[in-house]
Amino acid sequence: MFISSRNRRLRTTPALRALVQQTVLTTSDLVMPLFVMEGKAQQEPVSAMPGVFRRSVDLAVQECRELYDLGIKGVNLYMKIAEDLKDNTGRESWNSDGLMQTTIKAIKDAVPEMVVMPDVALDPYSIYGHDGIVTNGKIDNDATNEALARMSVSLAEAGADVVAPSDMMDGRVAAIRKALEENGFTDVAILSYAAKYASSFYGPFRSALDSAPKENASIPKNKKTYQMDFHNSREAIDEVLKDVEEGADIIMIKPGMPYLDIVSKVREIIDLPIAVFNVSGEYAMLKAAAQNGWLDNDLAIMESLTCIKRAGADMIFTYAAKEAAILLKN
Ligand code: PBG
Repeated sequence: MFISSRNRRLRTTPALRALVQQTVLTTSDLVMPLFVMEGKAQQEPVSAMPGVFRRSVDLAVQECRELYDLGIKGVNLYMKIAEDLKDNTGRESWNSDGLMQTTIKAIKDAVPEMVVMPDVALDPYSIYGHDGIVTNGKIDNDATNEALARMSVSLAEAGADVVAPSDMMDGRVAAIRKALEENGFTDVAILSYAAKYASSFYGPFRSALDSAPKENASIPKNKKTYQMDFHNSREAIDEVLKDVEEGADIIMIKPGMPYLDIVSKVREIIDLPIAVFNVSGEYAMLKAAAQNGWLDNDLAIMESLTCIKRAGADMIFTYAAKEAAILLKN
């Protein structure tokens, strides 16, 4: 008797393994999130995210040039807004001379080919650290949508290729699409965070921008009234289908690694491109283990990103994008 089928046969040599490989990660799959702050020629390390910096606009532009030279084709922008510019309207987010607008223009001037995808949400601009306007202790969905639409038009005017609403208000994709069309920005795409969960894995990101929900007796200190409950899976499908119908061009699932079941489920039902966010806490865990010598940094990065792609991602937002691009080159 012999074993009729031996799966190990095709694993015997690197060349054979390469021939039967089913998922290939490429640099074009990667999007780099960047943190930007006021100032010139300055950068500050972000705690809990080794290798990640907040940069002044000039250094962010320089970083974009390096990223593009490495083959990375998209950046996702986040601003650290001065405390005195924060309020409960989000007004600073549509200031045509604001930090985000200035950054977008500077990047498009210097590296016009780079796909610039600014974040659309009010939390960095909010005195409460919430993604929306607060009315009577609640996050006011429809008032927030108006602000997000204004912000999106302003970012399109500054030169954004893609606007990326990450706030989870209901109906905001439709509101943003309508405002973009009415202002002539028919080619500006919407990458919608369609299934974004209320997650503890955003902690390092919030400390990078000082954007965590503030202690305030009458307002919840978490985002559970708008971001999704991590106990739920079918609800993600409903969120995604609604955003597709409202006019989203790309669908985001977030966080990444603990949520790949959601990615693969959504992959089966939609044909639009799917983006997955390998978030700050996932990056922090990997770096902490690598720094302790408990994980091999390079192998763990390549495995994580490839598995996210295997689950169905067309693009991956990751703080390890530059490292991964360098690894892919060598
Ligand atoms: C805010 C926003 C968050 C992230 C991206 N946009 C944090 C939040 O929702 O509280 C998280 C990114 C990360 O953790 O890497 N709208």
